[in-house]
Amino acid sequence: MVVVTEKEEMERRAYARVGLLGNPSDVYGGRAVSFAVAGLWATVRLRPSDQLLVQPHPRHDLVAFPSLHALVERLDGGGYYGGVRLLLAICRIFHNHCKQNGIALEDKNFTLSYDTNIPRQAGLSGSSAIVCAALSCLLDFYGVRDKIRVEVRPNLILNAEKELGIVAGLQDRVAQVYGGLVYMDFSQEHMDKLGHGVYTPLDVDLLPPLYLIYAENPSDSGKVHSSVRQRWLDGDEFIISSMKEVAQLAYDGHNALLQKNYSELARLMNKNFDLRRKMFGDDALGELNIKMVEVARSIGAASKFTGSGGAVVAMCPDGDAQAELLKTACQEAGFVVEQIEVAPSALTKEELASLSSHQ
Ligand SMILES: *[C@@H]1O[C@H](CO)[C@@H](O)[C@H](O)[C@H]1NC(C)=O
Ligand SMILES: *[C@@H]1O[C@H](CO)[C@@H](O)[C@H](O)[C@H]1NC(C)=O
Repeated sequence: MVVVTEKEEMERRAYARVGLLGNPSDVYGGRAVSFAVAGLWATVRLRPSDQLLVQPHPRHDLVAFPSLHALVERLDGGGYYGGVRLLLAICRIFHNHCKQNGIALEDKNFTLSYDTNIPRQAGLSGSSAIVCAALSCLLDFYGVRDKIRVEVRPNLILNAEKELGIVAGLQDRVAQVYGGLVYMDFSQEHMDKLGHGVYTPLDVDLLPPLYLIYAENPSDSGKVHSSVRQRWLDGDEFIISSMKEVAQLAYDGHNALLQKNYSELARLMNKNFDLRRKMFGDDALGELNIKMVEVARSIGAASKFTGSGGAVVAMCPDGDAQAELLKTACQEAGFVVEQIEVAPSALTKEELASLSSHQ
């Protein structure tokens, strides 16, 4: 347990996540296998201060520009939103959660700032990483880490994002709160009974070598809004049964991982993307995103989106020689490709020990 005195500045980190199997069924009462990526993270710094201040990021929250043209270019590339709103939202959710649950918070001020190296719009969950790192700061600053259970924290992160109109499921937030590799079950019965899913950390050594593929300039992916959510709400049978199949892939995949049955894992990853493609349609997936998947498959790798598009996770069932082919094929197509290093567990020993006693 890190003991933090009040005078001290602290920095907490949360990693990008890769949805290995099961996405997007986490939004629909399904299951998922996901992990945190070591090289890509958001950091949030908190230092005690006289006033309460949330600091804009010098690049991501720009409000001053050299010209009107520069302003427009900036919005074209990065959209309207930086991270300040995320920090504000998690402060509010954290405060309200503590109030509702009788968790007393000392009256003291702080200054929050953030930074991130997670590529934007890449389906790597950069926003929730900022929220997760901020929550971690707040837990330590107020000394309430032991009063807000690990299983509940992803809900708080998701609620902060929902305040901002971000539509998402719990999967990313679980991977970020837990770190490492996690199997998650969001079945309605668990959600109703526990208020959260059942999350099982798995040994990261079960994973085969995996590769991350993304485009340097993703802006032209031409994604259109999909109707999947509405169809699911309307009881569309195809969507409901496909979503169940996707959830089953995560269940089967977690068993395949436990057996290190990588040919089976490869099959399940491909199936996951094929089901997504059928449900969402090519227009919603985006041409560039589909091309990344197809380039990986052209040399026999298994591939699927890491999230809802922007980056792809690939696996080479035939081993190292195939991985070389993958690198060449991606580079020739103009994509960035790198081997993934999985981030270690983000939980303290006490937190890990507390998990089993609640499930
Ligand atoms: C927090 O900052 C405000 C000014 O922004 C100040 O009025 C208040 O007294 C501060 N609270 C504490 C506990 O220092
Ligand atoms: C991997 O899983 C598939 C499908 O369940 C099975 O047919 C195959 O025998 C398994 N391979 C190994 C090496 O266990």
